Amino acid sequence: MLTGKKILLGITGSIAAYKSIVLLRLLIKAGAEVKVILTPSAANFVSPLTLSTLSKNQVLSDLYEENSWANHVMLGRWADVFIIAPASCNTISKMACGQCDNLLLAVYLSATCPVILAPAMDEDMWKHPSIIDNLNRLKTFGNEIIPVTNGELASGLFGDGRMAEPEVLLQHLENALRKTQELKGINALVTAGPTQENLDPVRYISNRSSGKMGILIALELQSRGANVQLVLGPSTIEVKAGIVVTNVVTAEDMYKACEPLINDASIIVMAAAVADYAPEISASQKIKKSEDVTTLNLKQTKDILKTAGTLKTDQQVLVGFALETENEKANALKKLSSKNADMIVLNSLNEEKAGFEKHTNTITIFDKKGSEFHFDNKPKSEVAKDIVNCIIQYRHE
Ligand code: CTP
Repeated sequence: MLTGKKILLGITGSIAAYKSIVLLRLLIKAGAEVKVILTPSAANFVSPLTLSTLSKNQVLSDLYEENSWANHVMLGRWADVFIIAPASCNTISKMACGQCDNLLLAVYLSATCPVILAPAMDEDMWKHPSIIDNLNRLKTFGNEIIPVTNGELASGLFGDGRMAEPEVLLQHLENALRKTQELKGINALVTAGPTQENLDPVRYISNRSSGKMGILIALELQSRGANVQLVLGPSTIEVKAGIVVTNVVTAEDMYKACEPLINDASIIVMAAAVADYAPEISASQKIKKSEDVTTLNLKQTKDILKTAGTLKTDQQVLVGFALETENEKANALKKLSSKNADMIVLNSLNEEKAGFEKHTNTITIFDKKGSEFHFDNKPKSEVAKDIVNCIIQYRHE
């Protein structure tokens, strides 16, 4: 799996850096080509000479060397996968907010390959809300976080915070590389976010969708090697480079953006919360109180999922969402057949930790072949993996 693969190994300032030397040896033994990047403080823990000797490559650490402005972009593109092990508290925080004061961070921000982090820190730091928030943020960028283990820490205390062992890191790298092949070259179309249907220049009808679930599905499809087109309604979430994003506002815009893409997509996931109705007239000037408007005339929007279902060929997998408050299974199955989808992902508003504006979700997937898959409540990044796994399995059945 690792023969000939290009691995970037980022090492930050942590006592766990000694394990990265072992990881480097394992990677070289497995036939990988490895380039090592150190943060300035990492050199206090491991010697560049050891790393350059083992990797047979110059160790990189300087952002300001001649021509290095171009190097960080090329390094990010050169790699098949980028692992940062150990990832210190400081580097995690900088990655989460886009800071760029060393080469490792610059490469991270330019990387188009999968990024894996193996955090290492003391337990109190590991459990601090700011670190928890930062790691959650990194997950929303599609980065994989390898869980820390429990044991003796650099402080002499016992607890969570030890970096995973080199053999475990190697397994994660192999899995990440395997995943990048699963949908290699496949075109995918994803819709996400709400739509806004204008009443006048200052008011609109919309819903509580943040776009998070659909964006995470787009990222997950991309991490499996797919070429992803994301048609995104108004959302405050930034989308990582590598995905082609078309920003839209209304259901009509979303329909127009999707229509030309449907034919070429082998996988279509419609996760957007598209408004079913839009105002018949969108006033060009602000509607005044004095106009005494008490009734809104609405017209039905075009159903994008249904359109894709009508155009669908046997080579395409079409996935829709159903958000239900009652008769959940019956309604989801009705949607599966009425929209001619291959799968419907049901999320229930009756679940406390699921749905709009939440970081977690509880889903059940129904497919056209009659299967039904239930999943526990979990972070939306994990839910995205479950959905993409189901799509891949369905394609292979
Ligand atoms: N959808 C769509 N275009 C629309 C409306 C919905 O593509 N104009 C898609 C959504 O992205 C989602 C699925 O259809 O994948 C289900 O949307 P929903 O609004 O729940 O379905 P409806 O058929 O409108 O049913 P109802 O509102 O009655 O539950």
